Amino acid sequence: MGTHTFNKGTSLVFLVLFASLHSSLPLASASSEEANAILKWKSSLQNKSQSVLSSWTLLPHNATNSKPRTGPCTWFGISCNAHGSVARMNLSVSGISGTLDEFPFMSLPNLTHVDFCINNLSGVIPPQISYLSKLVYLDFSTNQFFGTIPPEIGLLQHLEILHLAKNHFNGSFPQEIGHLKSLKELDMYTNNLEGRVVDGREIMVQFAKYGPNAEQM
Ligand SMILES: *[C@@H]1O[C@H](CO)[C@@H](O)[C@H](O)[C@H]1NC(C)=O
Ligand SMILES: *[C@@H]1O[C@H](CO)[C@@H](O)[C@H](O)[C@H]1NC(C)=O
Ligand SMILES: *[C@@H]1O[C@H](CO)[C@@H](O)[C@H](O)[C@H]1NC(C)=O
Ligand SMILES: *[C@@H]1O[C@H](CO)[C@@H](O)[C@H](O)[C@H]1NC(C)=O
Ligand SMILES: *[C@@H]1O[C@H](CO)[C@@H](O)[C@H](O)[C@H]1NC(C)=O
Ligand SMILES: *[C@@H]1O[C@H](CO)[C@@H](O)[C@H](O)[C@H]1NC(C)=O
Repeated sequence: MGTHTFNKGTSLVFLVLFASLHSSLPLASASSEEANAILKWKSSLQNKSQSVLSSWTLLPHNATNSKPRTGPCTWFGISCNAHGSVARMNLSVSGISGTLDEFPFMSLPNLTHVDFCINNLSGVIPPQISYLSKLVYLDFSTNQFFGTIPPEIGLLQHLEILHLAKNHFNGSFPQEIGHLKSLKELDMYTNNLEGRVVDGREIMVQFAKYGPNAEQM
């Protein structure tokens, strides 16, 4: 306990020192944890995708000059909120191949918009998606995702837009998603989902209209 408190104090002092030494770069330190987490995911992607994401680097553009290191806020497809924390990731139509297995859900709590539509992402959507608790916009449509849609998406209370169309999801549609109060738009068509959405409200019209089971509904 004592040691823990001491360590916290020490890192606070360090942070304050760091912040004052680098007062012109307040955002660089704020997002370094996010940056490292995003880079870990980048390294899990296929080589070709990594070259698409060549701006995702902490190396200075030129090691011999004294320009500040780049942070995620300036990276391709990424934008930050006023606090310098990653808020949006838009990799739509970027030819990205890989999975979400290494995606840093826990390290990006301020993400509000994730647009990965029209890529070559595969694998399952990990249940850890629920850590993105501020998510408003989620578009994974037109990829190669498979498996069941995790009911944990139903924990994303602020979700307004959910596009999962044109993948290979199977199993039943999680009823939890039907209970999301803010959801305005839901696209699920062209998957292998079975069953029907219970508690269908207006938002479910799209599912009914374009869903694989439209005839039965
Ligand atoms: C990716 O590139 C590295 C070297 O840059 C190589 O060793 C590795 O085999 C490549 N991986 C694939 C899947 O092509
Ligand atoms: C960095 O910039 C200097 C001069 O501006 C140049 O001579 C050098 O080749 C550059 N290094 C890299 C790695 O681009
Ligand atoms: C998320 O944003 C809040 C401010 O809204 C900030 O205090 C917090 O440090 C941010 N989280 C991360 C991981 O950057
Ligand atoms: C992502 O970028 C594309 C292309 O610029 C744009 O059409 C789309 O609206 C963006 N998505 C979000 C969630 O802003
Ligand atoms: C799509 O990803 C798969 C691996 O999941 C890979 O084998 C394939 O080459 C990728 N296709 C393209 C067009 O990049
Ligand atoms: C989903 O498809 C996989 C094969 O791709 C299969 O193993 C699994 O049993 C299917 N799950 C359901 C619920 O249909």
